[in-house]
Amino acid sequence: MGGELRLGFRDRMKTAAELKAEILGLTRAYSALTHGVNRPGYGEGAQRAFVPGETLIPYAGRVFTEDEVEAAISATLDFWLTLGKEGECFEEELAQFLGVKRSILVNSGSSANLVAFSALTSHKLGDRRIRPGDEVITCAAGFPTTVAPILQNNAVPVFLDADPLTLNAHLERLEEAVVPGKTKAVMMAHTLGNPFDLETITNFCRQHELWLIEDNCDALGATYTLPSSQLLDPPVAPKQGEGGSTPQLPRFTGTFGDLSTQSFYPPHHLTLGEGGAVNIVGKMLLKVLVESFRDWGRDCWCASGKENTCNKRFQWQLGELPLGYDHKYIYSHLGYNLKPLDIQAAIGRQQIKKLPAFIEARRANWEYLRRGLAGLEEFFDFHLPTHASKWTPRGFEWRTQEGPRCSPSWFGFMMLVKPAAPFSRTELARHLDKNRIGNRMLFGGNLLRQPAFVQVRKENPGAMRVMSDLSGADRLMNEAIFVGVYPGLTRAMLDYIVETVSAFCKKA
Ligand SMILES: Cc1ncc(COP(=O)(O)O)c(C=O)c1O
Repeated sequence: MGGELRLGFRDRMKTAAELKAEILGLTRAYSALTHGVNRPGYGEGAQRAFVPGETLIPYAGRVFTEDEVEAAISATLDFWLTLGKEGECFEEELAQFLGVKRSILVNSGSSANLVAFSALTSHKLGDRRIRPGDEVITCAAGFPTTVAPILQNNAVPVFLDADPLTLNAHLERLEEAVVPGKTKAVMMAHTLGNPFDLETITNFCRQHELWLIEDNCDALGATYTLPSSQLLDPPVAPKQGEGGSTPQLPRFTGTFGDLSTQSFYPPHHLTLGEGGAVNIVGKMLLKVLVESFRDWGRDCWCASGKENTCNKRFQWQLGELPLGYDHKYIYSHLGYNLKPLDIQAAIGRQQIKKLPAFIEARRANWEYLRRGLAGLEEFFDFHLPTHASKWTPRGFEWRTQEGPRCSPSWFGFMMLVKPAAPFSRTELARHLDKNRIGNRMLFGGNLLRQPAFVQVRKENPGAMRVMSDLSGADRLMNEAIFVGVYPGLTRAMLDYIVETVSAFCKKA
């Protein structure tokens, strides 16, 4: 027995390790039996039952195997609970995948945006800090929590219109949006997995000394190539992507700004159930600030369960506290507590191994739908990558001289129902719903028309500034509808989407 604690279980005495192995073995068997619908829709195991018109085709969802379920149960049995060794490993793996200095886990993409923005308000940034009343350039269409942190920190969002074909900010009025001394940052999303024009935005931020926060929540795995004349720090080659025969290298979106954010909510490219991350691309000081805002606002940067990382835990004198006040309980910011659980990180560590295949599947599914729906241009404007002018069966045509600049990591397959089409976007949405095909609008559409934003303006008309009539954002609000490309979709499902949309258009 070797002194090891054993428990009588079933027919013989077992050690904790043996019991755990047995539980995990049973967990895998259970998951294999019950989670078939959550498996990748490509490759082996894709022949799952699908009854057209009866089986729901979600627009997105969790895709996992026994690996994630085993990891979650294993971490649960360890019962560390709060962010610990799994979190540390996942942060490291995510940072390595992207090629950023650090990734810091939080409990959602919205929290990531809040923490990233709040970090830039820190007094530790001196003149460059974002103060109340300072302006931040953003896009009028998209998800509300890309913009909410600007207002929550009493800064002023300055809205650019959205381009209805790329879904990203229209940059025509970008220069005009600047107010010297007041404009402090650009914060915008790579909408629906399509990189925004990083060449223009990074040039602009450098020229005006602005922070850049990339909301990369919808775009994990998308790549962008800067012209060689504009290479920033030593570029980090992505692990996957289309490698370059030119001096330019594609880099993952989320590696161009000072900070970037991820969401791990189930529709996103990888999921922990809930979760998010802030990626530190710029100065390492930002890491300390991001962690401070995530972790109650504390000055101390010890990891959970660690003490005295700074080696002077009882030697600090900060604020009006007495010399030697415990550094663990010194707060340099008005922060939050936005950490996820270690169990979530354990799931993420399995998900990230599948990420290259997930990204590839999203691209392949997008292309499959685009080919299938070619010929319906009379009814729809289809989503285009930034800098592309046209889709053809041979690939995209590009406006840029050097050819492709970006490779989206699609979140969905977006169609804009043309005003002249004989049906409305809502009629199409109802038809898809009736046929069990999941569909969504572009999140909040024109955000300024959302009740929350209308209320803020009503109470304080100076709370935000708008650069144009926002007709592009309105078009997206009225005409945009997307269906799924997530890796859980099978060819049979994609075929059914194509048939249903095509038949609907032909009958209309
Ligand atoms: C662009 C963008 N940013 C932020 C978020 C918020 O992420 P979460 O749902 O994890 O809070 C989303 C949500 O889908 C999003 O699409």
